[in-house]
Amino acid sequence: MTDSVLEVHDLNVEFPTEDGTVRAVRGVGYRLERGESLGIVGESGSGKSVTALAVMGLLPGTARVRGSVRFEGTELLGLSDARLSDLRGSGVAMIFQDPMTSLNPVYSVGYQISETLLRHNPGMRSRAARARAVELLGTVGIPSPERRVDNYPHELSGGMRQRVVIAIAMANDPDVIIADEPTTALDVTVQAQILEALETARAETGAALVLITHDLGVVAGHTDRVAVMYAGRIVETGSVEDIFYTPRMPYTLGLLGSLPRLDREEERLTPITGSPPSLLNLPPGCPFAPRCPLRRETCDRTEPPLRPAGHAAHLSACHFADELVGTGAGEVFDTAGADTEALARFADTAAQAPSTHAEEDPA
Ligand SMILES: Nc1ncnc2c1ncn2[C@@H]1O[C@H](COP(=O)(O)OP(=O)(O)OP(=O)(O)O)[C@@H](O)[C@H]1O
Ligand code: SF4
Ligand SMILES: [Mg+2]
Repeated sequence: MTDSVLEVHDLNVEFPTEDGTVRAVRGVGYRLERGESLGIVGESGSGKSVTALAVMGLLPGTARVRGSVRFEGTELLGLSDARLSDLRGSGVAMIFQDPMTSLNPVYSVGYQISETLLRHNPGMRSRAARARAVELLGTVGIPSPERRVDNYPHELSGGMRQRVVIAIAMANDPDVIIADEPTTALDVTVQAQILEALETARAETGAALVLITHDLGVVAGHTDRVAVMYAGRIVETGSVEDIFYTPRMPYTLGLLGSLPRLDREEERLTPITGSPPSLLNLPPGCPFAPRCPLRRETCDRTEPPLRPAGHAAHLSACHFADELVGTGAGEVFDTAGADTEALARFADTAAQAPSTHAEEDPA
C-alpha cells in the first residue's frame, strides 16, 4: 500500500501530423505523495502542458497516449469521459495560465463558485453556497469579497480572475491541484500574490500540487521537489536542494545560470544559446547535445537514461552526470552563474513570509 495520490509511469504522447509524428512526451514518470508539491520546469515546447493534459484526460482525440496515470490507485488512461469528468471535479483540479479558459464570461464569479459547491455537496442550500463563496473569495485574497461575489469575470483584473479560479479549485476540495503556468501572464508583484493564494489553497485543502512553470525561480519556496523537462522528457529530478545546490545535468545548470542574481541589479543572463530540437524528427543521442558545452561523441550516439546521480531520489539524464559534482553554471556556460545561496535564502523567506492580502485592484 502506498500513500501516493498521483503516479505517472512511462507516459508517452504522440501527435500524428501531416509532417510526421510529434513525440511530445517521452517516458515521463513522477509520483506525488499526499500533500506534496512538485515543480515541473522547462522551456516552451518541452511537453509540460501535454503531460498535464494527459493526466487530466483533456488531450485532443488525435493524440496517442501510452503509459499509466494512477490517481489514488485507479488507472485513468482509458477511463470513460463520464468517470474522468467526475474526477476532474473533486479529485484533480487544473488551473490554466489564462483564467478565462476556466471562467464562464456570462455568469458572476459567485454563481460559478456556488455551482461548484452545490454540485459537490448535494445537501447544501444556495444561501449557504453563496456564503461559502464569499468566504472562499476572502481566503484567496480578494478584497471586499461580499461585493466582488457579484462581479462578472470581465470586471476583475487578471490577477483577481486567477484568484477566483483558485477559489473554484478549493471549492472542489481536490486531492491534487495541477497549475499550468498560473502566473505567466501577470506582472511580478501579482505573480507572488497568486503563488501565495495557491499556497493557501494547498494548506486549506491538503491537496498535492503540481506547479508547471518555465521559470526555475518560481519553484524556489513553493515546491518540495522539481522535475526539469527537455524535449518531452524529464532530464533531471530531485528535491529543490538537489536541483539548486548540486545540479547534475548541464541543462539545469544553464537554467540556473539564467536566473537573475539577487546581488547584482538588472543582470539576467541567458547562457543557453540555440533552441530546443523539433519533436518531429528527433535525432538519436542526447537531445540537449547541440546546445551543450560538455557534449562528447557518446552524446550524439546514445540518449542518456534517467538514472540516480548522488542519491536514489536525485536522477539525471546525462552521460557525464558524475563529472558535474561541485560544478557551477559559470564553469560550464558563459555566465556569472546563479546565486544559489541567495536563492535558497529567498526560498526560505518565501516559505515563511506572512500572508499579505494587499492587492492590485482594477475598478
Ligand atoms: N494538438 C497538438 N498537435 C500537434 N502537436 C502538439 C499538439 N499539442 C502540443 N503539441 C506539441 O507538443 C510539444 C509539447 O507542447 P507543450 O504544450 O506540452 O509544451 P510546454 O512545455 O507546455 O510549452 P509552453 O511553455 O510553451 O507552454 C510541442 O512541440 C507542441 O508543438
Ligand atoms: S549527455 Fe552529453 S550532450 Fe547531453 S547533457 Fe550530458 S554532456 Fe551534454
Ligand atoms: Mg504549456
